[in-house]
Amino acid sequence: MKVGIIMGGVSSEREVSRMTGKEMAAQLDRGKYEMLPIEITRREELIDKVKGIDFALLALHGAFGEDGTVQGVLETLGIPYSGSGVLASSLCMDKDLSKRLLRAEGIATPEWVCLERSSWCEATVESGGSRGNGNPAWGLAYPLFVKPNSGGSSIGVRRVDDEGKLGFALEEAFRWDRSVVVESMVHGQEITCSVLGGELLPILGIRANEAAWFDYRAKYSVGGAEEHQITLPSEVEARVRDVALACNRILKCGVYARIDMILKDGVPYVLEVNTLPGMTATSLLPKSALAAGISYAELLDRIIELSLQ
Ligand code: DAL
Ligand code: MG
Repeated sequence: MKVGIIMGGVSSEREVSRMTGKEMAAQLDRGKYEMLPIEITRREELIDKVKGIDFALLALHGAFGEDGTVQGVLETLGIPYSGSGVLASSLCMDKDLSKRLLRAEGIATPEWVCLERSSWCEATVESGGSRGNGNPAWGLAYPLFVKPNSGGSSIGVRRVDDEGKLGFALEEAFRWDRSVVVESMVHGQEITCSVLGGELLPILGIRANEAAWFDYRAKYSVGGAEEHQITLPSEVEARVRDVALACNRILKCGVYARIDMILKDGVPYVLEVNTLPGMTATSLLPKSALAAGISYAELLDRIIELSLQ
């Protein structure tokens, strides 16, 4: 079977995607598959480069890759691919929409508002340039996290502790996306839950080492953060598992996903669901799999097998 590893792409996360793709290529290069690394630098290259492959292993993150667009092209071409389908991919890429669906199903998620660039710009002009839309934090409690709605890897994300920094954070986030999510910080333990083939892998706790939160540097520099398997009281662990599996079901994810949460007073607050979570050397999913005794290479075999079913 000829497996094309599709990486790079055109999103803000293309560097992370290259790291994921490089790691996948190293782990796949063991004679079991015919392996073809495919780096995309322009959208239109995709169709030419996937010709002749039997399976597309997606190492892409963010727009044009994790958001259902590449999945749609591969569906059209009849090429099987790894991970979730078009609908789940695009739903999970939209933080606002996925949070709305989760909340409607009774799943806790931090309080938030979603702002559109066009209306935010208008409100800024009308209020004589005072940043923050003339509405101090929309009733949300500080600290806030300001995030591009369809971003990833914390690119363009700022933590805002008081009103003075809000305008700058919004401006920064709007550089990356036309919609921005402003979310109240939930003070608790950051955890991550990976689901593979409908089963929950060991839950990892996350602690950023030097950074104040789990930002880009903490995520991708060696030693930037510590992630370790955590032991939770059994009823809390059961709750976390139920919530992770419910997210997977509600958002119609397939094969694998990583659900990021904050655990506060035994209640998991879902931050987001990642349909193509990072698989770099420092990423969470491979660590979670390893804690279950599944090596990176075996994880890829499972992802390919499950995606072909
Ligand atoms: N968006 C990055 C790749 C992650 O969730 O791991
Ligand atoms: Mg993400």
